[in-house]
Amino acid sequence: NEIKIFSPATVANVSCGFDVLGFCLDNIGDEMIIKKTPQKGIRITKIEGYDLPLNPLENVAGVSALALLEEAKPNFGFEIEIYKKIKPGSGIGSSSASASGSVFAINELLGKPYNTHQLTAFAMKGEALASGAEHADNIAPALFGGFTLVKSCNPISILKLPTPAALYATIIHPEIEIKTRHARSILPDQIPLKTAITQWANVGSLVHALHTNNYQLLSSALQDVVIEPYRKTLIPHFDTVKKQTLRIGALGCGISGSGPSVFALSEGLEMAKNVEKVMRDIYFRAGITFTTYVSKIN
Ligand code: HSE
Repeated sequence: NEIKIFSPATVANVSCGFDVLGFCLDNIGDEMIIKKTPQKGIRITKIEGYDLPLNPLENVAGVSALALLEEAKPNFGFEIEIYKKIKPGSGIGSSSASASGSVFAINELLGKPYNTHQLTAFAMKGEALASGAEHADNIAPALFGGFTLVKSCNPISILKLPTPAALYATIIHPEIEIKTRHARSILPDQIPLKTAITQWANVGSLVHALHTNNYQLLSSALQDVVIEPYRKTLIPHFDTVKKQTLRIGALGCGISGSGPSVFALSEGLEMAKNVEKVMRDIYFRAGITFTTYVSKIN
């Protein structure tokens, strides 16, 4: 009648795959406790860590849980406690962790009536509250794990991609806030055909690289000619971080989701830690407060 879960942080877009690619981090995430109650509906009784609304209609975990209940129609309800570790607005899937955590846990307590694709659809209702658009590129990796590709949102179709064993992510979160809504509003409606060709060649190559453990191909595919040129203007020292992490041997470096976090991928833990040091030095010298993470992709 009660379940405690870990709901992981995720990196969306992965450079070339805006709104379709994402991966799941192993050691960063929220904790949630969900209890069955005789009273129908959803109550959020506690949120620790960050100041977020308890009203389920204003909270992504509540909205996604209500979407599930509307369909399942149980004659009981649920209480949710959220121990938030992922800072909202940090660009590593804070809202998706809440939105997917509540539906995953409730599904377990109901005896798993829904599959992971159906849970993705419920969680997207919550995510839409945060970003103003329904996209599943953080939710899919949070629920499926590893690397995922959102083939389609309507109907929901998610592909789980393999993860090369030695792949590690380094993340730096500079303490500035970027709202996904705003980061989406500055993007162009249309892109030149030539730019699109480069981008989809990279997405295809990246997927192939994951399937074949080809780190060199992965590295050359980790480029974003569509979104990054616009959004990098919102992130201080982005170009320096990218240049210096690539120079010491990172496979790629880009904006995590809609930012401000920046991610890099490396082959091996040692390189990932070297990349972390380079990132920290840049923001330290710039006088910007930051948090860093190194994680396996899982
Ligand atoms: N794909 C989304 C974006 C992820 O970049 O706007 C952020 O939630």
